[in-house]
Amino acid sequence: MRIAIASDHAGFIQKTPLVEYLQSLGHEVRDFGPSNEDRVDYPDFADKVARAVAAGQADRGVLICGTGIGMALTADKIAGIRASVIQTPEFAHLFREHNNGNVLCISGRFTALDLNKQIVEEFLTTEFGGGRHTGRVEKIMREDDANFCGVAE
Ligand code: RB5
Repeated sequence: MRIAIASDHAGFIQKTPLVEYLQSLGHEVRDFGPSNEDRVDYPDFADKVARAVAAGQADRGVLICGTGIGMALTADKIAGIRASVIQTPEFAHLFREHNNGNVLCISGRFTALDLNKQIVEEFLTTEFGGGRHTGRVEKIMREDDANFCGVAE
């Protein structure tokens, strides 16, 4: 799978080990930075990864910041992206199976690297469940449409 990955300074310490882990699993990884621990703004990196996924240049995205929250807030604003903060492998499984999530956002400060490796693996190996979840995911994505006026009362 083609994986786009990035962090901010707070997630940087886990980025290189996660890149190596993904490569060891056979994935093609594109690292969008940063290249050191200098302070940066997480929205700049979330934007790059989310746009790469939305454009079809990557199959999935992985973002690491202090909490994962800022990355998720930013990435989810890009049309075509379903991004969430994930803290357990079980949530990673459901994020894929129920929500067809395509950008995983994890915490470099509150989740240990070994657990994040399990989360990333679950995110990459779980298929979307389809069925009853399909229409719900379509309803998520209609929010990307500027012409959608909201659900009638
Ligand atoms: C950086 O201090 C921190 O705000 C950032 O890594 C992230 O946790 C934001 O959501």
